[in-house]
This record gives sequence, structure tokens and C-alpha cells, in this order.
Amino acid sequence: MRKQIIGSSWKMHINSINMAEETGEDLNKLLGHESRVEMFILPSFPMIPKLSEVLKNSSIKYGAQNMCYEEKGAFTGEVPPLVLKELGCSYVEIGHAERRSYFNERDENINKKVRLAFKYGMIPVVCIGEEERDKKENIGEIKIRSQILWALNGLSKEDAQEVILAYEPVWAIGKEEAASVDYVENMHGHIRDIVKKELGEEVSKNIRIIYGGSVGPENSKELSKREDIDGVFVGRFGLEAENFKSIVDNFIR
Ligand code: PGA
Repeated sequence: MRKQIIGSSWKMHINSINMAEETGEDLNKLLGHESRVEMFILPSFPMIPKLSEVLKNSSIKYGAQNMCYEEKGAFTGEVPPLVLKELGCSYVEIGHAERRSYFNERDENINKKVRLAFKYGMIPVVCIGEEERDKKENIGEIKIRSQILWALNGLSKEDAQEVILAYEPVWAIGKEEAASVDYVENMHGHIRDIVKKELGEEVSKNIRIIYGGSVGPENSKELSKREDIDGVFVGRFGLEAENFKSIVDNFIR
């Protein structure tokens, strides 16, 4: 049985350490003892030490929105995986659509980051998803297949089944409405088939596939009912602790 998982990347929506602390405290009050689902938040790097204090002994875990694809060396402005580990990060987000498009993130480096995440004992949350033009040209599934193969390349089965695949169609991020639940469910089935073909039935049964892209308290109700949707990855509509809680509540079975 796959445990449902609800994550929230704060991106740069929350843009001060004070605001991060307050939000963390609010979340902890509402959900700090909730153990029926897995939960994580991903603040900006410099907020992590504060969140590690606020969420000490909490059920809500935390992590980072990115990290360097190398362990050390001359990589100006980058964050080494070891530092995230030292700060107590349990998760690290890898390959978000904004990083792929604004910061030129490539599949090859995404794979390096996934491997490093395991080396440093963190769970990689790998974002995959087709762009609007891929959808129009009917090549969305091919694109996703390639992203999955890159993400999981070289992992043992034990590690591969721990990866969280966040399916985030680029055309549904930052919009008023999410992708339709049928569309998402169908894609998740497709993603699980690819994993099965490449890594076998066991991994495909255990790997968690969550949906992200304009998820909120309302549309998460429907998403939570579908067998192949193991949780959600929330952006703008999960920044208020109450909203995040409503979304989490929808996934409690
Ligand atoms: P959004 O972001 O919920 O604000 O659309 C989702 C994401 O990019 O993960």
C-alpha cells in the first residue's frame, strides 16, 4: 500500500524568513501530529535552518527546492548536497519546470542530482511533465518517457522505488485550473507502465506518483479519489496553512 504524500514548494512566494517561520508554525499547529499521510514543505535555502527548529519532532518534513549536481568544487552560487543533509532535509526537489526552462536544467544533470540525493540520504522529488506544445503535437507521452528514463537511470530497484515522481504538466502550472482528473489519472497510469517496463512490477507498484499544477483545496478532493494518484504537489494554493490542511485532509483515507 503506497502512503499518500502531500508536498508544497514555496518557490519564492514566501520571501522572508519571518514569514517562513510563521507559516511553519501555523502548519505545525494544524498538522504536526498527523501521521496518516506523509507531508513535506520546501522553502528557499536560507529559510531551512529556521524551519528545522520550527519543525523539530513534527510529522511535517522539510527539504530543498534544488541542489548542485556535484558534491563540491568550483560551482559559484550552488548548494552542496552535504549541506542539505546537515540541515536535516528529508527531501529534495529536482528538475522543476521553472528550473528546466529559466535555469536551463538538463536531464543529464537531473540524473546526477537524483543519484546524489540517495547518496546523502534524501528522497528526490523529481518533476516531469510535458509542455503545451508537446501536448498539441501529441508527443507528451514520449517526452515523459524520456524524462523518466533519465531520472531513474542507473538507480538500484531499492532506490528507484523510493523516488517520488511529481507529474506536473507545464501547461497546468500557475493557472486557475488544474489538468482534468481524468487526464491526470491516465498520465499516471502511463507513467507507472513505463516504470514497470523499465524496472519491473515491484518498483512500479511501490513508486509514488503525485500530481502538481494548480492544486487547491477544491480540486484535490477529486484527485484524492483516484487509485493511481498518490498525492499532490502544491504551489500557490497551499501557502496558507489552512489551505494546506484542507488539501491534506482530502487525502486521509
Ligand atoms: P502551482 O505550482 O500550484 O502554483 O501551479 C505547482 C508547481 O509548480 O509545483
